[in-house]
Amino acid sequence: MAFSATTFSLLLLILDLSSYSYSHPFTFTSQDYCNALEKSILFFEGQRSGKLPSDQHLTWRGNSGLSDGSAYHVDLVGGYYDAGDNVKFGLPMAFTTTLLAWGVIEFGISMQNQIENVTTAIRWSTDYLLKAATATPDTLYVQVSKITCFLFYRSVHKVGDPNLDHRCWERPEDMDTPRNVYKVSAQNPGSDVAAETAAALAASSLVFKYSDPTYSSKLLQTAIQVFNFADRYRGSYSDSLSSVVCPFYCSYSGYHDELLWGASWIYRASGIDSFMSYIQSNGHILGADDDDYSFSWDNKRAGTKVLLSKEFLDKKNS
Ligand SMILES: *[C@@H]1O[C@H](CO)[C@@H](O)[C@H](O)[C@H]1NC(C)=O
Repeated sequence: MAFSATTFSLLLLILDLSSYSYSHPFTFTSQDYCNALEKSILFFEGQRSGKLPSDQHLTWRGNSGLSDGSAYHVDLVGGYYDAGDNVKFGLPMAFTTTLLAWGVIEFGISMQNQIENVTTAIRWSTDYLLKAATATPDTLYVQVSKITCFLFYRSVHKVGDPNLDHRCWERPEDMDTPRNVYKVSAQNPGSDVAAETAAALAASSLVFKYSDPTYSSKLLQTAIQVFNFADRYRGSYSDSLSSVVCPFYCSYSGYHDELLWGASWIYRASGIDSFMSYIQSNGHILGADDDDYSFSWDNKRAGTKVLLSKEFLDKKNS
């Protein structure tokens, strides 16, 4: 009875779907999904900052931001612009990287000829995040943005850069005014942005585990280092850098969620027990029991739960 009822509803569903495909002009084939995936990944090429390689597909883009960090004696060339502006925001860039890597870890096998493009997109970010994390000890560079369109205003405006950047509409290729860099440090902590950067580096280390083991272990090693920095000097970057990160990428959820998310990714990538112990002993204090119904660049609790649950289930079944 149950069987035939199921068969019957399946049949209805199939009939319904096939009539839908006849009557509806918009049907989706696997080719459409391939195209959508290709274009989603191509988007990242459009956002590139730095010196572009010769195999760049979007040839209307050129080199830009080639002296980012130089006024501060650090090399912060590369990475991604955030949106239609010329700001490199560390928190969303790191989160985007974590998610791209998570996509490859879970679904890379289905990405077919896009896998190379997506790992290139990840590496474009991790190369930058490595520089940002290792340039100066106990420091993470978290933002690069221009001060103004006009050299003339240089001494007047020192802070609030994103607002000034937003007032100045130009192609990144045409930027010719100074760019400021912002960092978090022991004195001005940013556990949210640092732990997210750790998550991005750890997740990406899994992506390169077999294709480039040396790079992969460098990513993991740096992830652990940045995580320890995030945990040792606790605080939100929204407090340390309020005028330049808020209201754009203010960490409204605080930094507790990122500490658990970062530790979870390092545990997933390394299997080092102390990270699981960290999650177990700090989980309660860091809000693991809180309910959240969204998962975003700001709040990672729901993602952490999925990541850890999968880890436990996979372990149990193996
Ligand atoms: C990468 O992306 C480009 C542009 O979308 C596409 O032409 C190419 O086939 C993709 N795959 C590889 C392996 O480069």
